[in-house]
Amino acid sequence: MRRLGGQFGRLRRLLRHGPGGPGAGSAPSDGGGGAAAGNALASTADIPEGGGKVFADQKVVVTQPTAGEFKAFSATCTHQGCAVKSIADGVINCPCHNSNFSITDGSVKSGPATKPLPEMKITVDGESITLA
Ligand code: FES
Repeated sequence: MRRLGGQFGRLRRLLRHGPGGPGAGSAPSDGGGGAAAGNALASTADIPEGGGKVFADQKVVVTQPTAGEFKAFSATCTHQGCAVKSIADGVINCPCHNSNFSITDGSVKSGPATKPLPEMKITVDGESITLA
């Protein structure tokens, strides 16, 4: 019984002091240089105001909710992964089960999808829209 007591003591000490250390190391920085500049996705003229365009190869939807404001979202439906296809009346439509997503923020306007289309970063430089 004495030995057991000793072990408990050690345990208790461990618990009291915790694993120690502030932990949290440095954030891993993804090396790799090469900004993909000049790799334009679209021209602003390609994106209708109040609508948008699906870029199937890049799996991106670019929209222009209001004049001069451009947004991009993943073109992969959050329901079951179909590619969204068309944009009309302010929504991005998935043809598989007819989910609709807002062109403004990707939120679900009607299901069955329950999660918004993730927004993607783009850079607009003059007339050229580039995936950031
Ligand atoms: S996969 Fe898009 S609505 Fe079902």
